[in-house]
Amino acid sequence: MATRPTFLEFFAGGGMARAGLDGLMDCAFANDIDPMKCEAYRANNPGDPIVQGDIWNLRPADIPAAALAWASFPCQDLSLAGGRRGLNAPRSGAFWGFWNIIEKKGEAAPKTIVIENVSGLISSHGGRDLATLLTTLADAGYRVGAMQIDAALFSPQSRQRLFIVAHKGKLPPGLVSDQPDDTFHPPALRAAAANLPDQTHLAWVWWRLPHPPRRNADLAALLDRDPPDAAWRSDADTQRLISQMAPLHRQRVEAALADPSWNAGAVYRRIRIENGKRIQRAEIRYDGLAGCLRTPAGGSSKQLLIVTEKGRVRLRPLLAREAARLMGLPDSYKLPKSETNALKVMGDGVSVPVVRWLGQNLLAPLAGAKGARAAA
Ligand SMILES: C[S@@+](CC[C@H](N)C(=O)[O-])C[C@H]1O[C@@H](n2cnc3c(N)ncnc32)[C@H](O)[C@@H]1O
Repeated sequence: MATRPTFLEFFAGGGMARAGLDGLMDCAFANDIDPMKCEAYRANNPGDPIVQGDIWNLRPADIPAAALAWASFPCQDLSLAGGRRGLNAPRSGAFWGFWNIIEKKGEAAPKTIVIENVSGLISSHGGRDLATLLTTLADAGYRVGAMQIDAALFSPQSRQRLFIVAHKGKLPPGLVSDQPDDTFHPPALRAAAANLPDQTHLAWVWWRLPHPPRRNADLAALLDRDPPDAAWRSDADTQRLISQMAPLHRQRVEAALADPSWNAGAVYRRIRIENGKRIQRAEIRYDGLAGCLRTPAGGSSKQLLIVTEKGRVRLRPLLAREAARLMGLPDSYKLPKSETNALKVMGDGVSVPVVRWLGQNLLAPLAGAKGARAAA
């Protein structure tokens, strides 16, 4: 049997990069600082070592050689919610712990590197964080390109993420295009590429990724129709949430209520500025998608569902199992027992079908895997 190329999974969390690369590449090493995440990783990949600890404390010599390294480094300092303190702030600065390992591995460093983060990385510090990151890779001899991919292309969750793919060495034919693609290279990313320093710009490539077939499931298909009774919030909570809606959103609920069939809308609470005042609003969508799952840090980060049927309106939070489905995980994925921990693992994760699509169409071919490229 042909051996598969191997990869290193940094910032591994619950192992969703690994789940996406399953069958294409074998994981040789994984690391995460969070004991709860490591437990989830081990529960789903028994017998496979994941080293728990700070990436800065890993000894590069203890990490095996591999074709690819995946790094979904912490996003808190790059997202609006985290104050955008940038690539040198304590949490997102863990990227440099990863880079320290790549540098110290020298010739044995993986030839392909994937860096995944929020799309806010494109504009963080006026684009300087992305330029620094790409220049770091280019200066080390990698060709670099980036794609913004929405998980909603594959599963019913709106989740835009930036995937930087870097490769050292000859590029196999067919993987690079001479121009950007409207789906994966939005205007902000094209502008960022155009503004790179000259030497980094020389290393830039437009990766060619085929478009996936049309998604065939919407949110309703992934939700439990008969969740535990305890999941439902009281009628008073339901009415309080509806009262936080702007008229347009309330009308959407009323229209759903007028339809006797089962309907579910996804709700997030947001702070909006109205007439110069900060107002907590509840916003509902009925476009068949959930909003971007987040780690449950407070009430406003919870994805809620308003369910209407036969004139009745009810409210409940999205269950962790439903969140796992939105991340593209099968129901056989073992979730942490605590619902809060399980939602944390999901909210921090990378969409499994996005990783798989990248793996099949770009990463496995870059890593020299045989017969990996899907039909374009
Ligand atoms: C965005 S999440 C990545 C999740 C993962 N890709 C998945 O799909 O589950 C970032 C991860 O980095 C871990 N992390 C944060 N700081 C770290 C550090 N200094 N060393 C190692 N891991 C760290 C967090 O525990 C978290 O699981």
